[in-house]
Amino acid sequence: MSRPCIHPSILNADFANLQRELGRIRTADAVHVDVMDNHFVPNLTIGLPVVKSLRAATELPIDVHLMIEDPDVWAPQYAELGCESVTFHAEAAQAPIRLARELRAQGARSAMALKPATPIEPYLDMLGELDMLLLMTVEPGFGGQSFLDLILPKIRRARAAVDDLGGEIALQVDGGISAETIARAAEAGADTFVAGSAVYSAADPEAAIAELRALAG
Ligand code: DX5
Ligand code: ZN
Repeated sequence: MSRPCIHPSILNADFANLQRELGRIRTADAVHVDVMDNHFVPNLTIGLPVVKSLRAATELPIDVHLMIEDPDVWAPQYAELGCESVTFHAEAAQAPIRLARELRAQGARSAMALKPATPIEPYLDMLGELDMLLLMTVEPGFGGQSFLDLILPKIRRARAAVDDLGGEIALQVDGGISAETIARAAEAGADTFVAGSAVYSAADPEAAIAELRALAG
């Protein structure tokens, strides 16, 4: 398993000062950008034009998490504008295998997310199409929620399946990751950690990133 990667989510950042907020997480492995459409989840954030500007404003890789309907239509457009990693939700995709292949063909890392109540088993045969699997550890839609310990067995099953395939697929968790919870997620097998409030509500976000990385190691 590779070294732990920390992807701060800008959902909890100051949206009126995104460039400055990106400058507070220079030591991150990537910036996690939550796109919500108020249909797939009951919240609305940003879309293509803002992500395009973020792409131009940082050298950090962009890990975009699409909590939207019709990802088959929209996700390739995020790959096209230069997001290094594009995550669509399995529950929303019409043709997840075709979509994962399309994202890779465009040069992005293909990634698929599962909501907490979505089982992993129906997707095991398509893991090889993915560069990252995201297991949500809260119901998607909002930052600042509590980590769901009931997802730990699913993380373990996903780790075993990824290892069976040679371990090239990143295993990401998102929701409620903090200094209190990250070690449990890491022990279960996650290697890539999204942290929103734990990073952006800290006085020193880069110190928070270092602490999370150490606790996950
Ligand atoms: C929630 C988003 C998360 C969120 C995490 O639906 O996908 O990325 O920003 O925030 P915290 O770390 O505060 O749970
Ligand atoms: Zn997210």
